[in-house]
Amino acid sequence: MQVIISSDPQSVADRASLFIKRKLEKNPQLILGLSTGSTPLKLYQKLINLYKKQLMSFKTTTTFNLDEYIGLASDHPQSYHYFMKENFFKHIDINLTNTYIPQCNQKQNPFLIAETYEENIKQCGGIDLQILGIGRNGHIGFNEPSSSLSSKTRIKTLTKETIADNSRFFKQGEFQPIQAITMGMQTILAAKMIILLATGKHKAEAVQKAVEGPVSASCPASLLQFHQHTVFLIDEDASSQLKNKSYYYHVDDLTQKIENLYRLSDI
Ligand code: PGA
Repeated sequence: MQVIISSDPQSVADRASLFIKRKLEKNPQLILGLSTGSTPLKLYQKLINLYKKQLMSFKTTTTFNLDEYIGLASDHPQSYHYFMKENFFKHIDINLTNTYIPQCNQKQNPFLIAETYEENIKQCGGIDLQILGIGRNGHIGFNEPSSSLSSKTRIKTLTKETIADNSRFFKQGEFQPIQAITMGMQTILAAKMIILLATGKHKAEAVQKAVEGPVSASCPASLLQFHQHTVFLIDEDASSQLKNKSYYYHVDDLTQKIENLYRLSDI
């Protein structure tokens, strides 16, 4: 596990975009796992800019999103389908048939949808690089505290805290979903590489628990400590409760020196 602390949210996005760019250069058929929420917005904007400057193309990339609310139509402004289209997909050259997001309206069978989603990921050969955010309660995707290490894509009931955190996106009186379909912990941990983005002081406690706390289902992000290639890409504010900060700076400094020296493209 590597912890990279950047000065501010824009530097976090810049650094994350560099990882994705390098991966795409090596493998244009990259299977990219994506997330929604406020945190990755700057990253998507950066990737769009790189695409517009013809420095990146997503023509042969396949994407899998982490999660989607149950009960919202895909054109609902708060659905993650809508989010991805508006904030990323419609601005780049991706083939929309290669963009997967679990979708479940009230008439569909969520169990079947979850199973099919898991199967789709398998058929594509698994996720090469998964982008994650983190909830204040340590959730990743919608894997709320108590999520099992061996969980796969499934229905998850949201905690009160997550519902309250996400209520800012819904108008007063508007229907706000309380359940979602989410990739499971095992699904996420099967990705070859994972980048978790976190910015802001409100994420500092969750980041500290995930990076330095005991591995526990009470903080699902802490299960990433078991993963062989996870990078926590965070800003100063989100790093403010970490105890071993000087070590993380030191490692990043040396890693960058080695990278420059040997031109290793995916450290
Ligand atoms: P946020 O959500 O980026 O909107 O803070 C992150 C998450 O809940 O995973």
